[in-house]
Amino acid sequence: SSPKYIRYHGLLLPPSAHSMESLEFAQNFSVEDTDVFAVTYPKSGTIWMQEILPLVLSGGDLTPIQTIPNWDRVPWLEEKRLALIVDQLASPRALVTHFPYHLMPPSFLTSKAKVIYVMRNPKDIVVSSYYFHQMAQFLEDPGTFDEFMEKFLEGRVLFGKWTDHVKSWRHAELGDRIMYITYEEMVQDLPAVLRRISDFLGRNLSEDTIHKIAEHCSFKTMKANSMSNFSLVPKLYMDSDKSPFLRKGVAGDWKNHFNSEQLARFTSVIYKELEGESFSLPWS
Ligand code: PPS
Repeated sequence: SSPKYIRYHGLLLPPSAHSMESLEFAQNFSVEDTDVFAVTYPKSGTIWMQEILPLVLSGGDLTPIQTIPNWDRVPWLEEKRLALIVDQLASPRALVTHFPYHLMPPSFLTSKAKVIYVMRNPKDIVVSSYYFHQMAQFLEDPGTFDEFMEKFLEGRVLFGKWTDHVKSWRHAELGDRIMYITYEEMVQDLPAVLRRISDFLGRNLSEDTIHKIAEHCSFKTMKANSMSNFSLVPKLYMDSDKSPFLRKGVAGDWKNHFNSEQLARFTSVIYKELEGESFSLPWS
């Protein structure tokens, strides 16, 4: 464990955004039936969902994404910020969380709130996270890529092991309250994913609206949106000269970072931990 992080149910969290109070606030949070949660392991598409959800829920109103920073627009359930802005959230509320299923508040379990679980190729997550640790000054220096990968595989990283996160949400018995999507599907055909999200949330969006939303959620547009690209955060906390938050936005960048030994080790650990699972991973 690291003195830089706080530990919560075995998970490491940065104290810059989390505190025991914020975690308690999350536990006591009163979830409403109309709430929508985008659930992600870090670096899997969180801020993308912070753009998508308000647009889909409002039928394409650009005001929220152009006037409210992403962390206030679709706040993190577990972060300190939520308590300060919860009363200002538009209805229906959209939130994000990196929590594994078993840390969700009791009121979530008894509610009808919906969940969109976004999964990303863990090889790309480790690469994205590696760069993020270089730019986010409130996180530990990641060391070499090899060292960081080892930490990732052992779960000595923010929010623990990727396999535990995926398993917890795959086993969540939420029936038609949960839908599963992947970052890769979003990269490949965003309008198709937007149609599925819109149906899931009971919105009946026209093709024009779907395409307008896709345009506003593109990597390029988001990278230029100061309400979404973290340029409002002082350089002391996030140094985008080291690596921008919206870094590459592609699937498969791991191929530029993994050597063959790393690939073999990574694959064997991940697949071993998912042995016997009823779901399969969509990536080789
Ligand atoms: S965090 O810190 O957990 O909230 O990070 P998260 O938002 O989950 O993940 C960041 C990665 O998502 C990429 N991203 C996008 N890719 C494609 N299109 C869009 N619109 C988009 N928005 C964010 C972002 O670039 C990070 O991935 P990498 O691979 O580092 O580029």
